[in-house]
Amino acid sequence: MFNRIGVIGAGAMGRGIAQLFATSGQQVLLFDTRSEAIDDALAFNRNLLERNLAKGKLSQADFDATVARMHKADSLEALKDCDLVIEAIVELLEVKQSLFRELEAIVSADCLLATNTSSLSVTGIAAGCQRPERVAGFHFFNPVPLMKIVEVVRGSRTEQRYIDGLVQLAEQAGHFAVITPDTPGFLVNHAGRAFGTEALRMLSEGVATAQQIDRILRDGPGFRMGPFELFDLTGLDVSHAVMESVYEQFYHDPRYTPSFIAAQRVAAGLLGRKTGQGFYRYEDGQKIEQP
Ligand code: NAI
Repeated sequence: MFNRIGVIGAGAMGRGIAQLFATSGQQVLLFDTRSEAIDDALAFNRNLLERNLAKGKLSQADFDATVARMHKADSLEALKDCDLVIEAIVELLEVKQSLFRELEAIVSADCLLATNTSSLSVTGIAAGCQRPERVAGFHFFNPVPLMKIVEVVRGSRTEQRYIDGLVQLAEQAGHFAVITPDTPGFLVNHAGRAFGTEALRMLSEGVATAQQIDRILRDGPGFRMGPFELFDLTGLDVSHAVMESVYEQFYHDPRYTPSFIAAQRVAAGLLGRKTGQGFYRYEDGQKIEQP
């Protein structure tokens, strides 16, 4: 159904989405308002594929074909022939709404417009569109090629055929698709409040250190990483925006109150791996302070 996929936003998520679909056989056009972000993303993906080639996980022919399927788009207009566009830009409703309005004037009438939003209302993003029935959520997790689950979010006006198309595409790429209603935080980021927001509350109350909480949740329930390691991976700017958005959308239900610790750390630029320091410090992408 989809042969030509546009990806907007070449950050942590956009680059992963581009790699996933280039690997599964689609032509992918990557666009970002910062041209250098696209160059970085393509180099990053090439590097990952080179490592798989070196490990024998990928043949030379598959490597060449996958790299050749990832293209730099110099403008939004370059996405005009795409049959699916996936947006992975900043988590701000007005910015996403205005991008979708702009896109509608460029792409064909049947092009599916998907958003990788973590927590914003898909219905709200579609609200300014002329054809909200072709807008859906397609919510991946970081790192996209490895986290083999994706939420397919049905907005209030999304047509079933578009939902079916995204499920089929995800499965063809080897991901497990879960159809979720358009409720705040969908499934994963709603359930995840207990993991992240409560951990921040424990930290602010002095119950335990970030390192202790991470260790307990790794060694006890057996999560792959603790909440603070996950904040550092996701980027606290993104996680805090999600916490604020879920809180707003649930009409300030105290269960979802965001943490002042997170707000302060965002203001200080302690965002996690992307700034070299979050709850832990990083050098060359490696955590250098072990709990
Ligand atoms: P990021 O900050 O790594 O990348 C965002 C990119 O979008 C940047 O390169 C920026 O230059 C570009 N951008 C911003 N506004 C733009 C515009 N108007 N047009 C084109 N490009 C624009 O952010 P990240 O982490 O990749 O998140 C992107 C989206 O994915 C957000 O909606 C976030 O909530 C969601 N998300 C993030 C996850 C994570 O673990 N980081 C997980 C799942 C979803």
